[in-house]
Amino acid sequence: MTYLGVDYYPEHWPEQMIDEDLQGIKDMGANIIRIGEFAWHLMEKEEGAFDFSYFDRVIDKAKQHGLDVMFGTPTATFPAWLAQKHPSILSENENGNTRVFGGRRQYCFNSDKYRQYAAGITEKLVQHYKNEEAIVSWQIDNEFGHEGSDMCYCDQCHGDFHQYLENKYESVDQLNDEWGTIFWGQTYNDFSEIPIPKPTVTTHNPTLKLEWARFRSASVNGFTHQMTAIVNEHKGSHQTVTTNVSGGFFDKWFDHEENVKPMDFVSYDNYPVWGGLEKPIPPEAIAMTHDFNRGLLDQNYWIVEELMGAQGHDVIGYLPRPNQAKMWSYQAFAHGCSNMLYFRWRGMTKGAEQFCYGVVDHDNVYGRKYKEVQSLFSEIKEYDELLNAEIKSDVAVLYDYDNIWSWRSQIQSKDFDFNEELLRLYRPFYRKNTNIDVIPASRDLSTYKVVLVPVMQLMDDALASRLRTFAEEGGTVIFSYRAGLKGKDNNIRLGEVLPGPVRDLIGARVEEIESLTAAHQLELQGEGAFAEVPAHISVWRDLLVPEQAETLYSYQDQFYKEYAAVTKNTFGKGNVYYVGGGLSEEALEKIAADVTSDCGIETIESERDVEVYRRHIGGDSYLFLMNHSDKEKSYGNEKLGPFESRIVKG
Ligand code: GAL
Repeated sequence: MTYLGVDYYPEHWPEQMIDEDLQGIKDMGANIIRIGEFAWHLMEKEEGAFDFSYFDRVIDKAKQHGLDVMFGTPTATFPAWLAQKHPSILSENENGNTRVFGGRRQYCFNSDKYRQYAAGITEKLVQHYKNEEAIVSWQIDNEFGHEGSDMCYCDQCHGDFHQYLENKYESVDQLNDEWGTIFWGQTYNDFSEIPIPKPTVTTHNPTLKLEWARFRSASVNGFTHQMTAIVNEHKGSHQTVTTNVSGGFFDKWFDHEENVKPMDFVSYDNYPVWGGLEKPIPPEAIAMTHDFNRGLLDQNYWIVEELMGAQGHDVIGYLPRPNQAKMWSYQAFAHGCSNMLYFRWRGMTKGAEQFCYGVVDHDNVYGRKYKEVQSLFSEIKEYDELLNAEIKSDVAVLYDYDNIWSWRSQIQSKDFDFNEELLRLYRPFYRKNTNIDVIPASRDLSTYKVVLVPVMQLMDDALASRLRTFAEEGGTVIFSYRAGLKGKDNNIRLGEVLPGPVRDLIGARVEEIESLTAAHQLELQGEGAFAEVPAHISVWRDLLVPEQAETLYSYQDQFYKEYAAVTKNTFGKGNVYYVGGGLSEEALEKIAADVTSDCGIETIESERDVEVYRRHIGGDSYLFLMNHSDKEKSYGNEKLGPFESRIVKG
């Protein structure tokens, strides 16, 4: 059964409205509500006084209306009495200011006190409802690490960071050696002398910053796993466990694959537009977030917050146009979302999210948005099997959080943006409407035909050798700039010519580099078939000397005409491309066209802004059609009105 529903916060409204609301939710075609996630105080008004009677009544009513329940453990918002009694639970920002009670997620992941109280409420809650048939799933906390909550510079974190380093390094001398603390005379006599990267004059040691990021990740994931273990220990066997991943996952200080390891499935909160944004993020950027979430456990996932109304805390932006939010739902289903809940049933009249509009607005009129959700629910219901079918991709994009954090602390070009660099390689394949997996670099590559490796500056020999085997056996690898620059210790290797451990694979060497800006648009000259395709480079450039590789593009500016910008090498039975900078779209589209045709990858030609995604069940094939524009478009004989979407056989 496909779960379709809404995020319902009954505690925000007079209790006598619950029946009417649940009827409205049911009439919309829903079969599930998601509740409870921020309601700790309602369940433990005073320390130890656990009382779940409010939710007992809500759940009874849900059952009367034939609705199942996803219940969120409430640890993302703790009660005021707890902060007053134990101020040590509050996290600190980089300037040493304690985050006061009042917003949300202001707890320190390393606070023993917080862990103790969070464990307490989680255990009591889950024990109370373990036999509740209507609760089919538990959601752990809410959007771990979101809104900057994954970073804390308090003394508890500092102490635990020392412990983390002591456990990891054999001695402080070994740490000194690996971090290169001889530089600026930062040599430590004892682990206790090591700072955390709070503001200082100039900047901190890069390896310290990477270790700090890894420690942050261990902190968030340690808390998550502790809470998940409690839920798993006490829940009923019919209940599953998940947590909801927020947008902006590459900007977070924790490894998401590790975070969701103990979950039965991943949930994602899909907001293609939020806050003051003038317009939604581009279609390929939305698609990539779905492929990322599917990739986390390599299986289909839920969306537990799907945007319907305009959203914002203090500033509100773009209102999704009629049918646009519905189209984003189709897009999510296309990419592997199997169950979906909309955020939120009704806009709240009070509190910090007054301007997060819901399916129903504050006027409580079941209007245009209600009908849009209703039509989506009734259309999608019949595709149960299709939504659960496995997605197989020939193309994978690899990422590694260590690499992302390394870039984040040394962006090298003022216009560098990891997300954009990943999309730069993803986009041309997305436009060919081919399935793409976005996966951690540690995954098995043997089932893919093409592997995209954007800006992988941190690379150990193990990854290099796996990529070598992949190419040798006939795979195509596309690297972009800075590949192989550093080892996993975030240091550059002495005496090694770049691209380091993948130089033979790329068949070219990097002789010099230059950091560019987005405003730089250095013209390139293409060779052979690429001569017809205009190209330029921005953000970065590697000056390449081909060794075995052929040149696809070379620089045109004074002093650098001899150097290649983009190369292609044959390696074993495979091909290896190296894109030495922020290459423009058309040139990348030509590379994607060559690669998909050489590798025999199925592609679907469509108009710009029309996304076509093919899914299979058994021998049957279905196309998800999504018009991302406000103009009428078509695909074959299918006419698609502004923002229209549908599934057709074919
Ligand atoms: C999400 C969050 C929700 C709510 C929503 C508003 O990030 O999980 O609790 O704040 O944004 O759009």
